[in-house]
Amino acid sequence: MISTPDKLDLAQTPTPFYPLERLTAHLGGPRIWIKRDDLTGAATSGNKIRKLEFLLADALAQGCDTIITSGGVQSNHCRAVALLGAQLGLKVHLLLRSDSEPKTVGNLLLDHLAGATISHYSVKAFKRLDRLFEQWQDHYQQQGSKAYAIPTGGSNGTGIWGYIDAAKELADDFAGHNLKPQAIVHATGSGGTQAGLMLGCHLHGIDSPVKAYAVCDSSAYFADKISADLKDWQERYPSDIDISALKADTSDRYIGPGYGQADPEVFEFIKQLAAMEGILLDPVYTGKAFYGLVKDIKQGKYAQWRQ
Ligand SMILES: Cc1ncc(COP(=O)(O)O)c(C=O)c1O
Repeated sequence: MISTPDKLDLAQTPTPFYPLERLTAHLGGPRIWIKRDDLTGAATSGNKIRKLEFLLADALAQGCDTIITSGGVQSNHCRAVALLGAQLGLKVHLLLRSDSEPKTVGNLLLDHLAGATISHYSVKAFKRLDRLFEQWQDHYQQQGSKAYAIPTGGSNGTGIWGYIDAAKELADDFAGHNLKPQAIVHATGSGGTQAGLMLGCHLHGIDSPVKAYAVCDSSAYFADKISADLKDWQERYPSDIDISALKADTSDRYIGPGYGQADPEVFEFIKQLAAMEGILLDPVYTGKAFYGLVKDIKQGKYAQWRQ
């Protein structure tokens, strides 16, 4: 087994893992369990902090004093970077994508409160994101600073360690409950959670398939993105682990109108689950993915697993 690189201790882990009894009964099976990665922190909560424990450790090890990262104007990842940067005494510069004049609400408000420097770019300008990162890194270098670049969503060969590590936690959860899940289901956006879970399950002996529900982009896009992240991981952390057998399984059937936009049925489902189980999903990621899972269950796609 390859050794885990240094990580910072930032997230509240292990996160709770328990069965959703009322939803399971309502659907008539299969049994659904939830891993509450929405409880990894307060304003920094969600899946990004797991990746950032590794990425920010790497930034500090490289002597960086500034973090540059990117995302949509309401990015959860950027909010987490802004707050964790402040916690660690690092400067944070966010490159945010939006075509209209953004309102300073939600995550953007938190980015401002955390003191991040913010540059707004149009969707067109964002197509040359690599160039923007280079420009800003040069800018900080000229000022005598050292900037560390974290890609959108923290998804690269270092960030995926967050979910390689989370898979270890899941292996312990499964062992503790004597479970062998038929599938591990999650939302995918920038692909790092998916790549990390796939690799982590492989490394930690979990042989349940990882099934992702996309909130943007096609299944073919994720096949490429996951293999790129896995390749990047292997280049950064050489080992004899065979990553060629890992193939992404992504459903792109529940994206709806597009990234950040959801159909009324998704909102209705979010309301239903909140009332049934006291779980708050969001309409951009977890609500869409969970809605897709339940729809597929109802359509018999998981029928072989009904108890
Ligand atoms: C709540 C939530 N779930 C899932 C995802 C998707 O994770 P990834 O970008 O690693 O694919 C994100 C990404 O921002 C998220 O905020």
